[in-house]
Amino acid sequence: MPEDSMDKPNIVTCTAPVNIAVVKYWGKRDEELILPINSSLSVTLHQDQLKTTTTIATSRSFQEDRIWLNGKEEDINHPRLQSCLREIRRLARKRRNDDDPSLDSTGLSQRVHICSVNNFPTAAGLASSAAGFACLVYTLARVFGVEGELSAIARQGSGSACRSMYGGFVQWIMGEKEDGKDSLAQQVEAETHWPELRILVLVASAERKPVGSTSGMQTSVKTSSLLKHRADSVVPGRMADMIEAVQKKDFAAFAELTMKDSNQFHATCLDTYPPIFYLNRVSQQIINVVHRYNRHYGETRLAYTFDAGPNAVIFMLKQHVPEFVQVVQHFFPPETNGGQFIKGLPVNSAALSEELKQDIGLEPMPKGISYIISTKAGPGPCVVTDPTQHLLGSDGFPIG
Ligand code: DP6
Repeated sequence: MPEDSMDKPNIVTCTAPVNIAVVKYWGKRDEELILPINSSLSVTLHQDQLKTTTTIATSRSFQEDRIWLNGKEEDINHPRLQSCLREIRRLARKRRNDDDPSLDSTGLSQRVHICSVNNFPTAAGLASSAAGFACLVYTLARVFGVEGELSAIARQGSGSACRSMYGGFVQWIMGEKEDGKDSLAQQVEAETHWPELRILVLVASAERKPVGSTSGMQTSVKTSSLLKHRADSVVPGRMADMIEAVQKKDFAAFAELTMKDSNQFHATCLDTYPPIFYLNRVSQQIINVVHRYNRHYGETRLAYTFDAGPNAVIFMLKQHVPEFVQVVQHFFPPETNGGQFIKGLPVNSAALSEELKQDIGLEPMPKGISYIISTKAGPGPCVVTDPTQHLLGSDGFPIG
C-alpha cells in the first residue's frame, strides 16, 4: 500500500428500514440486554419512503469514536450505542481468532466516525430508533467484516431494532435464556410475499411529546397486571394466528388481529399506574372511521395500529387505497396552504359516495392529520455501493 493511502479512511454506507409491529413488544424482563416479556411481529416498511442512511469510516488517524445524527454531533458514550459497538468488536475479534488468525487486525483497533440521517422528519414521531440502531449495527458489521446473525446486537440498541434487520414480515422470538442468545429476529415471509398489501402512515399533528417507550414499558411491567396476562396468556396464541394469517394472505384475519393487538397494548397503557395515554382525539376518530368503513362494506377492509404516539398506521389492499384517502381527506380536512397531503407511492383519485359518508357519519376534524405517507412492505438493510452517497468525506468528517 502506498504511504499516503495508509491513513485514508475505510468508508462504508448502508441503509435500514423502519418497521411497524402488528403484535406489539411492550415490557422487558432484562433492561440491560433488552429481553422482552413476549414475542412480537412486524412488517418492514419500504425504504423508498422511510429509511435511515449511515456512513461509518475507520482510520488509524482517528483519535476517538464519534457520532453525528441528523447533522448534529451526539454523545458516543450513550450506553446502548456502546453496547452495539462493544458487541460488534467482540464478534470481529472472535471471528479473527476462531476462523482466520491471519485476518488483518488493524481495523479492529481503529476508531470509528459514524454519521447517520433519516429521509423523514424526526419530528413526525415515527419510530426512528429501530431503523437507526439496525443501520448502525449492519454498517458496523460491514466495516469490521462480521457476518451472520446480527439481530441480537441490534436488539441491544433498541428492542424493536432487531426486527428492522430483515425485510417483509418479521418475528422477534422472545427466547428463554438468561444471556439472551435465543432472543432473535427471524423473517416469516419476504417482502415479495404479499404484493397487494399497502400501508398508509397517517401523521397526526401531535401537540406534545408523549412518554418514551423505554420508561413507559418499565412502569407498565411494574404496575399492570393486564400486561402480565397479555404476555403470558394472549400473545403466544396471537403470534401463531398472525403468522398463519400472513402466510395465507388472509387480510380479514390479519386486520382483526392487528387491531385487537393495538387495542390491547393501549389498554395495558391505561392499566399502567399512573396511566399512560398515547391515543388522542384524532387517533380515536381514526379508530371510529375504520370500524364504520368496515361495517359499511360488511367486511374488514382496513386495519389500524398505533405505537407509543398518536400516529396511525393503516393496512389495506391496494384496490382500496384511493377511496380510503378520500375518506381521510373528508373526515380530516387538511390545511390548504402549501405541502402535499399525500407523500410516497402515488395514489389515484377516486370518488366518495354519499352513502359511505353518511354511514361513517362523524363530524370532520380539520387539520387533525398533517399528511399521509403511502408505502408497502420492503426489504431489510442494504449496502450503498455508490460512493457519492457517503455522508462522510475522504477526511472522515461529515459532508456539508
Ligand atoms: C410500542 O423498541 O422503542 O413501538 O427497547 O426500550 O428501545 P426499547 O423500546 P422500543 O419499543 C417499541 C414499542 C412499540 C411496539 C413495537 O414496536 O413492538
